[in-house]
Amino acid sequence: MAEAFNEKTLSADKAQRYAEAADEIASVLDGEPNLTARMATVASMLAASFDHYFWTGFYVVDPTRERELVVGPYQGTLGCLRIAFGRGVCGAAAATGQTQRVDDVHAFPGHIACDSRSASEIVVPVFDRGGALIAVFDVDSDRPAAFDAVDQQGIEAILKAVFA
Ligand code: SME
Repeated sequence: MAEAFNEKTLSADKAQRYAEAADEIASVLDGEPNLTARMATVASMLAASFDHYFWTGFYVVDPTRERELVVGPYQGTLGCLRIAFGRGVCGAAAATGQTQRVDDVHAFPGHIACDSRSASEIVVPVFDRGGALIAVFDVDSDRPAAFDAVDQQGIEAILKAVFA
């Protein structure tokens, strides 16, 4: 009982923190059209808002290559530079257009281990106003199963507000 209560309280707190982060990000980005500035701000502000974020950033669709992502603004240790659509968790999000939530990255086929401390991960596709895929937003945690439906809803809402 106590555990269920605590979990509910924590989820409500986390949802509240996503809502606050969304407001702060919107206010910083007000009037700023540059895509790199928008991505850098989202990565920085979300990484600073949550303890369970270990690596936070964007892989951007490279218009000069066939179905390939290239690293964009991020916070964290060195990320790999390029990821083909369909490869690893980021590539799966790009290829399917669906959010990927992975409780144990070591069990995910083709997972790309940029930092061996990453244990779980969420990758959310980023669409522009016209519905075109422009990037994926990748958050890794050094804790297993760190991301739940509250993270997914919070991140998806922020990305929609900032980029669509
Ligand atoms: N883990 C990702 C690769 C990117 S990094 O972790 C920064 C993946 O498998 O898509």
